[in-house]
Amino acid sequence: MYRNNVEVSIPADDIAARVRELGQRITEDYRDRRLVLLSVLKGSFVFTADLARSIDLPLRVEFLGVQSYGDSTTSTGVVQITQDLTKPIEGEDVLIVEDIVDTGLTSSYLMNHLQHRGAASVKLCALLHKPAKTAVPIDISYLGFTIGDLFVVGYGLDAAQRYRNLPDLCILKE
Ligand code: IMP
Repeated sequence: MYRNNVEVSIPADDIAARVRELGQRITEDYRDRRLVLLSVLKGSFVFTADLARSIDLPLRVEFLGVQSYGDSTTSTGVVQITQDLTKPIEGEDVLIVEDIVDTGLTSSYLMNHLQHRGAASVKLCALLHKPAKTAVPIDISYLGFTIGDLFVVGYGLDAAQRYRNLPDLCILKE
C-alpha cells in the first residue's frame, strides 16, 4: 500500500483553512485590479484550484510549465520553461502561484521573466517555504506554511511524478 511510504505532515483540513485565509487577503488586496493567477505547473495545480475558488474576484487563471528538478529531489538551479503562456500578460497584475519555494531560484527567475513581459505588477504566493535552502532573496507576499528541510509530497507535490494526488502534505519515509 503506497500510503505506508508516507507520513502526514500537514493535514488537508489545515491546508484548506490556510488557503481560505490567503484567498480572503488576496480578495481584499486585488479589488479593482486585473488579477491573473499564474499557476506554475505541475506542482501548484491543486493549490491553484483551491486558491482560485477562495478568491472572490473576476480573476484570470493562466498556466506556465516549469521544470527545475528533473526527477531528482535536489535543485539543479536550471529553470526550463516546458509550457509557455498562451495569452499576453501585459498590463495585468500577476500573482505567481507556487507550490514550494526551496532555493528560490525558480520563483526569482519567474518574477524577473514576467516583469520583462510587461506585467503591471508581479507578486508571489507560495503554499510552502523551506528557508533552510534559500539561495536568493525572495519576497513571498502570500505564504501558506514554513517547513523544515524535508522533502514533502501530496497536495500537488511529487517525488518523481508520484504522490501528487495525496490530499494531505506528507513526508516521504525512506
Ligand atoms: P526552487 O527553485 O529550489 O525554489 O524549487 C522550486 C521547485 O522545486 C518547486 O516548485 C517544486 O516543484 C520543487 N520542490 C522543492 N522542494 C520540494 C519538495 O519538498 N517536494 C516536492 N517538490 C519540491
